[in-house]
Amino acid sequence: MKKFSRLVLFILAFFLGTLHAFAAEKLVALTFDDGPSPQYTERLLDILKKNNVHATFFVIGKNAEKYPKIVAREHTEGHEIGSHTWSHPNLKNISQKKMEAERDKTDAIIKKITGETPKFLRPPYGNENAKVRAVWNRPLINWSVDTLDWKYRSKKHNIAAVNEQTKEGSIILFHDIHKTSVDSIQSVIDNLKAKGYKFVTVSELLAAGNDGKAVTGQKVCYSQWNCTSLKK
Ligand code: NI
Repeated sequence: MKKFSRLVLFILAFFLGTLHAFAAEKLVALTFDDGPSPQYTERLLDILKKNNVHATFFVIGKNAEKYPKIVAREHTEGHEIGSHTWSHPNLKNISQKKMEAERDKTDAIIKKITGETPKFLRPPYGNENAKVRAVWNRPLINWSVDTLDWKYRSKKHNIAAVNEQTKEGSIILFHDIHKTSVDSIQSVIDNLKAKGYKFVTVSELLAAGNDGKAVTGQKVCYSQWNCTSLKK
């Protein structure tokens, strides 16, 4: 009997431990804007592959048109592809007609390459308003960790920014068009893995914060826990 209860306790402890491990899974999403870059994106893909990390690429439509093979590789290797518009305008300053062209051309080239229409838009500079949300009619994905990698062009700065700002559920912003950004990714992955973070795509991150259901519709998301619905 004593032996039996010890066994029961052991099994119980095992299940609780497993449950705890699931509950304690801290997710983050790495996102890369403005590519694909013929100089740097493939090296980044090699690093992500070696580390078994999936990221989200917000590609510029006209770059995708120029380098479709790189976008195809991103897709084939399990990364998510989002729209970052066709030509990177400030969406607050252009007409609805121009917005629709930015949307449709980018959706078409991504669909041509991957077979799928992008589920998300990352508005250039994070600039959005009610009109932008209505035209795209899908979640806009901004970020909660701003590395300012485009500004400092410093591996050291990028690594420190991620270490200081990342929390459970963060969306981390990088640009795969800068050498220093790609140079910092191995250390970023190592540091976050050591802190217990798991890397997922934006779709996976948001669904995990939404009872497993995909996040759709007009929202602006900054992290796993922060998707705001329409403001007026
Ligand atoms: Ni951009």
